[in-house]
Amino acid sequence: MASSSGQKVVLITGCSSGIGLRIAVTLAKDEKKRYHVIATMRDLKKKDKLVDAAGDAYGKTLTLMPLDVCSDESVKQCISNVKDRHIDILINNAGVGLLGPVESISIEEMKRVFETNFFGVVRMIKEVMPDMKKRRSGHIVVMSSVMGLQGVVFNDVYTASKFAMEGFCESMAVQLMKFNIRLSMIEPGPVHTEFETKMMEDVAKMEYPGVDADTIRYFKDVYLPSSIDIFEAMGQTPEDIAKCTKKVIESSSPRFRNLTNSLYTPIVALKYADETGGLSVNTFYNLLFNFGPLMHITMSILKCLTCSCLRRRTISPN
Ligand SMILES: NC(=O)c1ccc[n+]([C@@H]2O[C@H](COP(=O)([O-])OP(=O)(O)OC[C@H]3O[C@@H](n4cnc5c(N)ncnc54)[C@H](OP(=O)(O)O)[C@@H]3O)[C@@H](O)[C@H]2O)c1
Repeated sequence: MASSSGQKVVLITGCSSGIGLRIAVTLAKDEKKRYHVIATMRDLKKKDKLVDAAGDAYGKTLTLMPLDVCSDESVKQCISNVKDRHIDILINNAGVGLLGPVESISIEEMKRVFETNFFGVVRMIKEVMPDMKKRRSGHIVVMSSVMGLQGVVFNDVYTASKFAMEGFCESMAVQLMKFNIRLSMIEPGPVHTEFETKMMEDVAKMEYPGVDADTIRYFKDVYLPSSIDIFEAMGQTPEDIAKCTKKVIESSSPRFRNLTNSLYTPIVALKYADETGGLSVNTFYNLLFNFGPLMHITMSILKCLTCSCLRRRTISPN
């Protein structure tokens, strides 16, 4: 299936679930049919959820292709199967999480996270960018995270992979601008997807080899309950993130950084308010270890304020 003239070709990675699936469907169902979506996933056997959600758009404004961001061959094959290799908008969404005390995580597991979250994005950009440069046009969007801007305890390796990508993209953005190619980061806070479920399942199976009893206690009894509270109180939906992403790609001057959850703006600001890093490290320490009960109450209040009747979802950029 070829895109109709005037339609923008959008290729999205990791569309079997969550945010990627929702972005693909949102763009494919655009009322003015401005997009031809190439929704990719590493295992096409998982296509049913996407196909169901796409409805009539499937086979019209949405096509499916296999793509594993960890494989050079798969990336090359997928892009060479795109008509004229022409991609107007590349959305790098595929990603994996990793949670827990560093002592219990093998270097192999850490490499798997970097292979997907960092090298996966680099691989995609390397393959798509030369054609965008030739055409002097294109937009590359990267699904980063608030954790690409601010470290979060017990998310050390995941955070590092997102920081790596932020650094890579911040550097690339300058060169790409010279070729009229835009680069935008989307930085969600917690989002209710399988990501959260998969991480909690992994945690339930964890055995903590080599971790001392105090660290296990801080992780299980202090960090995990706070994390669940935060997800419940502040979590956005994949639809929220899809709407935000659509706004970013439709903007006449897309921003480089796009936090999707305004509740996180002050947290990120802490870091820039004190260049020594002391303010953010001490604040997070106190929030977790000294004001745990207060944090629980704050999250409960936030949860009430964001319940369905009072919900005021601020999708930034406003
Ligand atoms: N959920 C959150 O709280 C949150 C917050 C901030 C940022 N993010 C970011 O948002 C992005 C999407 O996550 P999500 O929340 O939508 O989670 P999700 O539902 O688990 O979706 C992740 C997607 O990435 C795919 N994927 C994993 N490894 C891949 C590979 N090697 N090649 C191709 N696809 C691969 C998964 O495919 P399979 O089904 O084959 O595994 C799945 O389609 C990630 O980059 C994540 O870091 C999530």
